[in-house]
Amino acid sequence: MIKAIIFDLDGVIVDTARYHFLAWKRLADELGIPFTETDNERLKGVSRMRSMEILLEIGGITMSETEKEKLANRKNTWFVDYVERMLPEEIYPGVKPLLEKLRQRGIQVALASSSKNAKTVIQLLHIQELFEVVVDGTMIVHSKPDPEIFLLAAMRLGIPPKECLVVEDAEAGVEAAHAAGMRCLGIGSPEQLFKAEKVISKTGDFTMEMLHEIEEKDKIGKLED
Ligand code: BG6
Ligand code: MG
Repeated sequence: MIKAIIFDLDGVIVDTARYHFLAWKRLADELGIPFTETDNERLKGVSRMRSMEILLEIGGITMSETEKEKLANRKNTWFVDYVERMLPEEIYPGVKPLLEKLRQRGIQVALASSSKNAKTVIQLLHIQELFEVVVDGTMIVHSKPDPEIFLLAAMRLGIPPKECLVVEDAEAGVEAAHAAGMRCLGIGSPEQLFKAEKVISKTGDFTMEMLHEIEEKDKIGKLED
């Protein structure tokens, strides 16, 4: 029985995944690294520094930790510029009513994002009060695909992991959910997120019927390498 839903932020609640891509693409262009939206799938859900490392791996470039941190900070400055110009209307359609409906039905709602900018984003969207628990990249040591962030969210909600559902747009996020012992609803393409119990294209399309469907399915521990 699912008692809590833990939402990722970027690409699930709001299209900030696009802003992350644009900022990484700008850095990749400066470094002469060919970087496509397909490559970007590997960066989704993982920490800023891990994303930096993946980008350099793609380009076959090595550099010092100090240099990596400098470049990752530059990318973050561009990302924050995009976010600061974002309007509350940019929240995905249907998401706010969905969060309200879940709470009315007695389902607990949390946000778990690897981003250190998560609190700024939800404040700009005026949705911070819709989440009972918010955990972000500043509170964890290991980012997705490690389960740490989802386990922390479940602990703060006071709900056992097997009674939590994660909503994710990143492969690393689906893996993290399963590693935490939680079912996962994927947002995006079924090909990309085939490990999730169910995949829909938009968060706003979620219905209470799907919750029952997902409760019947269990791919946890059956698909991971
Ligand atoms: C995740 C995004 O939510 O946060 C990643 O999917 C991003 O693309 C990560 O790299 C870290 O974000 P930030 O804002 O701390 O650089
Ligand atoms: Mg995401």
